[in-house]
Amino acid sequence: MDNHSIAMITYANKAAWEASAHLHKSGHGWAQLMASAGRPGFSVLDETLTALLRKYHVDGRRSVQIGCNNARELISLASLGGVPELGIDQSPSFLAQGRELANAAGLELKLLEANIYDLPDDLGNFDLVLITIGVLSWMPDLSEFFRIVSGLMKDGAVLVVYETHPFLEIFDPHRENPHEPGFSYFAEEPQVSTQAITYDGENHGKVEPSYWFIHPLGEIVTACIHAGLKLQELTEYPHSIREPEYDIYAGRNAQVPMSYSLVALK
Ligand SMILES: C[S@@+](CC[C@H](N)C(=O)[O-])C[C@H]1O[C@@H](n2cnc3c(N)ncnc32)[C@H](O)[C@@H]1O
Repeated sequence: MDNHSIAMITYANKAAWEASAHLHKSGHGWAQLMASAGRPGFSVLDETLTALLRKYHVDGRRSVQIGCNNARELISLASLGGVPELGIDQSPSFLAQGRELANAAGLELKLLEANIYDLPDDLGNFDLVLITIGVLSWMPDLSEFFRIVSGLMKDGAVLVVYETHPFLEIFDPHRENPHEPGFSYFAEEPQVSTQAITYDGENHGKVEPSYWFIHPLGEIVTACIHAGLKLQELTEYPHSIREPEYDIYAGRNAQVPMSYSLVALK
């Protein structure tokens, strides 16, 4: 994809995330997060991601998270002995929430407001790059994305991705028949949404249009390989790491893949 299209799409998505940010800082969820961030051993990482990070020796690794949102996962790395150093996100309002959480946790983090496609040159490189749920689908160009990710990695560094399985993206739990595929797995055009972006399954009204992509698993793996990364493992899971309305696709006899993890070394 050309740079102009990438810039247009990421600019629009920034506006949509910004317009949704205040919805993430209200209510019980935020209060609970703030209260727990200050407790020893704070972590929002689930069992799967925790085990994976331990397996790849997160302890002592200088870490960066891309699309860190409010940095709750980046901060959680400290509970595993990791060294959370840098969070990158293009939404200043979410990063401001991240600063509050980092303060509550007593951690000094650099939280950088930047479009991942347009990073400053002097960020240095890291021992661990973390990418978690809900980042890849916002990326208009995966080849360029993983080239940039690879540039943030030292030789021998580990990339850990824990994401929604792209196959799940073909379903829409809000449709009348939610088990009928609603989107093509091979759609090349972005899906356009005007819904406020939240994770609670509620309708919070409309915001600026945002553009998201279904990147098939083959495209994701190929983009990693072309970026010079050495794939260590790719694991698909039947469990959901999405909003609660996606739970209707879990625990079925005819089970679709719902999430996956990918680990690659530089
Ligand atoms: C779904 S959220 C990540 C949530 C996180 N995994 C968690 O559970 O807290 C995706 C994040 O990616 C960020 N993002 C989307 N496109 C971006 C881009 N081009 N550059 C930097 N950040 C971007 C959004 O601002 C948003 O905070």
